[in-house]
Amino acid sequence: MGIKVIFDTDPGIDDAFALFYTLSHPEIEVIGITTVFGNVPIDISTENAYILKEKSESNTPVFKGASKPLLRPNGNFPYFIHGDDGLGNINHARPKNIKENIEASDFIIDSAYRYPGEINIIAIGPLTNIANVINKDPKIWKIIKSITIMGGSWFAGGNISPVAEANIYNDPEAADIVFKSKIPITMIGLDVTHKVFLTNSNIKSLASFKNNSGKFLKDISSFYVKFYKVTKNMNGCYFHDATAAIAFTNPEFFDFKKGKVFVSQDSLTRGQTVVFESKKFHETIIEDNRQNINIANKVQSKKVIKKFLEIAENYMK
Ligand code: BDR
Ligand code: CA
Repeated sequence: MGIKVIFDTDPGIDDAFALFYTLSHPEIEVIGITTVFGNVPIDISTENAYILKEKSESNTPVFKGASKPLLRPNGNFPYFIHGDDGLGNINHARPKNIKENIEASDFIIDSAYRYPGEINIIAIGPLTNIANVINKDPKIWKIIKSITIMGGSWFAGGNISPVAEANIYNDPEAADIVFKSKIPITMIGLDVTHKVFLTNSNIKSLASFKNNSGKFLKDISSFYVKFYKVTKNMNGCYFHDATAAIAFTNPEFFDFKKGKVFVSQDSLTRGQTVVFESKKFHETIIEDNRQNINIANKVQSKKVIKKFLEIAENYMK
């Protein structure tokens, strides 16, 4: 029995790294994997969650969630980053034992009541499932312990538009509902995830460990790494989602500031996270009882990578 986590994801290659890390971490008990559209449509994202569950030899149940943003139609899916299948186009076998009975947001609500005050959510895709939880049960904040979000940007600009990070852009209305909720939130945005690189030599080390997971992660990451080579001349990749998972287990690797986060829903700046830092003078601020959240603004990236490799070597299957 470890720290209880619900893992909300849109796998996605960097999602796979984060999920393997969290599932194998000795102090964490992932009680459910909930899926959301994002890197790929929901049916593929859910199938990928099953593939990852099988490959990591986990028994954690998977729950299918939102197929589209709360109020908007789906946009384009980034097949050029994660592959047509979202997991690097390496001809994965179809997963066995697909069992879908409860919808993702209902699973989260049921779990919160089953374990009041104990559930931590790690959310590394668009925030639609979490917004659905809050919309269905506005008082749920009283019994959810925390949410760690990979998403947003304070001073780092955007990665899907000049100002927006992809997860927030993909459902800005949902993200704003989440940032407005009273659940304790930690935002791990591009200010820190653009400082954490998994290098090609780190990926080689992963594949040398005495387990299958490291080799699997290496195989799926070839496509992702190629994207970073071609578009940014990088020898490796950003480690967005795993950085959020590691911020949950090891917040001491990060510096945080407090602020209120608002999400732009305008067409020009859609998905921009506008941060009003706590205790700073601001000429204008929207008063809607929004809470300050923790926003990561610095990271000791070497420690993040070292921690990932340590968990991979010692605990992944
Ligand atoms: C985020 O967007 C997705 O493509 C990644 O999986 C990550 O969650 C980075 O902006
Ligand atoms: Ca993701």
